[in-house]
This record gives sequence, C-alpha cells and structure tokens, in this order.
Amino acid sequence: MAVLEAKNISKSFDTGTHTEVDAVTDMSLAAEAGDVVLIMGPSGSGKTTFLTMLGGLLRPSAGEILINGQPIGRLSSDRLTKLRRDHLGFIFQSFNLLENLCAWENVYVGGLGVKNRKQKAIELLKRLGLEKRIHQKPRQLSGGERQRVAIARALINNPPIILADEPTANLDSKNGLEVTRLLCEIACQENKAVVIVSHDQRLVQVAKRVITIEDGRLVKEELGQHQQFCEHHSDSNKS
Ligand SMILES: Nc1ncnc2c1ncn2[C@@H]1O[C@H](COP(=O)(O)OP(=O)(O)OP(=O)(O)O)[C@@H](O)[C@H]1O
Ligand SMILES: [Mg+2]
Repeated sequence: MAVLEAKNISKSFDTGTHTEVDAVTDMSLAAEAGDVVLIMGPSGSGKTTFLTMLGGLLRPSAGEILINGQPIGRLSSDRLTKLRRDHLGFIFQSFNLLENLCAWENVYVGGLGVKNRKQKAIELLKRLGLEKRIHQKPRQLSGGERQRVAIARALINNPPIILADEPTANLDSKNGLEVTRLLCEIACQENKAVVIVSHDQRLVQVAKRVITIEDGRLVKEELGQHQQFCEHHSDSNKS
C-alpha cells in the first residue's frame, strides 16, 4: 500500500495581478515503504511546491493527497498537524536548525511526545556519526554536520515518510554524497518512503525512481540505481 499518495494535484498561485501562476499541474505520485523517489527538474518547475503539498503544508488547488491512506483535504488543522507529526519527517536545503540550541537539543525539539526523547536524540546523532558534536551549536558545525543534525531531527519521531527538499544543495561533493548515503541507508534498513527533490544528478544512484518535472508537469519517470547502491554499501558495511 502507498504510504503517501498524490492524485492529480494542481496548484495555482494568485499573484494579485489578475494572472495566476500554474506552479503544479495534474501531478500524481504514489510512494510505498522502502521507496526512494527522486524528483528532478529545472529551477521554477514546481518541485518545492509539489513537495510542500505532499507534506500537507500547502493546500492543492485541485486533486487529493493521502497520507497513510487518509485523504488530508478535509482534516481539521489539529488532526492534520498530528498526522504530519506521526508520519512525516522534513529535511530542508537550509537545515532550519535553531541557532541557540546545541545539536542534541535541536533533535530533541523535533520529537514532541516521543518517549526517552533526549536519549533517542543522542542515539540518532551517534548513528549519524556525530558523537563528538552532540553539545555543539549549529555555528560550530560544518554544513554536512548540520545537515546530519537535521536528518536526526527528521527521524526522531520514527516517521514512515521522509521528505527532503534539496538536501545536498548547500554541501560540497564529499558531504553531499555522505548525506545521500545516509538517506539511502535509512530507506533500506528501516523501510521508509523517501521523496527527495534535487538538481543533483548524483542522487540518481540512490533513487529507485526518478521523476522529471517541467513547467509543473510530470514529463518522465525512469528507474534509478538504488538497488546497486544499497547492495554495494551493505557489502562495504559487512567488511
Ligand atoms: N507563494 C507563491 N506565490 C506565487 N508564485 C509562487 C509561489 N511559490 C512558488 N511560486 C511560483 O511557482 C513556480 C514553482 O516554484 P517552486 O518553488 O515550486 O519551484 P522549484 O522547482 O522548487 O524551483 P527551485 O529549483 O529554484 O527551488 C515558480 O514559477 C514560482 O515563481
Ligand atoms: Mg525549490
């Protein structure tokens, strides 16, 4: 069963000048547990708009979104917030960490209602290779380290769905690949559905499916190289 589904969704923005911008037109997508879907397309093609609607943060002008089989269009804002909290983790290009909090506190604040929250936050940071950075503030961390804190924050609720908007855009090639590898590992080991928006061609190696959008429309869907990448990395983990 699809844990996340968009059925023929569209979004038009009213720009206040009598002209509407059609940011997304008639897009559909179904993601299952273990899926890694990469959405690519030029700047302005509607990627962020589409992902934001998938995450229930922006209401489509037409069409329907289902999270865990539940149509979200008519939910009250409280119910939607709860559904998002239980099912979705977000990773943003700009990390969106709180500058006054250290690494573990940033992860902790993402886990409202989670039992043993502090312990879980620290465990996740360790798993992401940040055991020596637990008490450091974002400004004391490199870009790749900050993005790994943001990944830990997205994971603390153990959500079945991870949405990432340009997660490697602010990283150099080494860190970009490392973050990519972690996202792939998560999807493989924990059977999560991951939807990544990116310009970054290297992410094709972790994706199961690659969707290209242009002018807000789906123009191509291809297979990625996820299987190969996962097998390679699980081999190198064993040795
Ligand atoms: N709030 C808004 N009001 C009006 N137009 C908007 C709004 N948000 C986005 N748009 C327009 O919708 C289109 C798609 O924008 P979107 O941010 O989804 O593109 P994108 O593919 O994520 O681009 P990038 O790769 O540069 O991040 C663009 O033409 C943009 O100008
Ligand atoms: Mg964008």
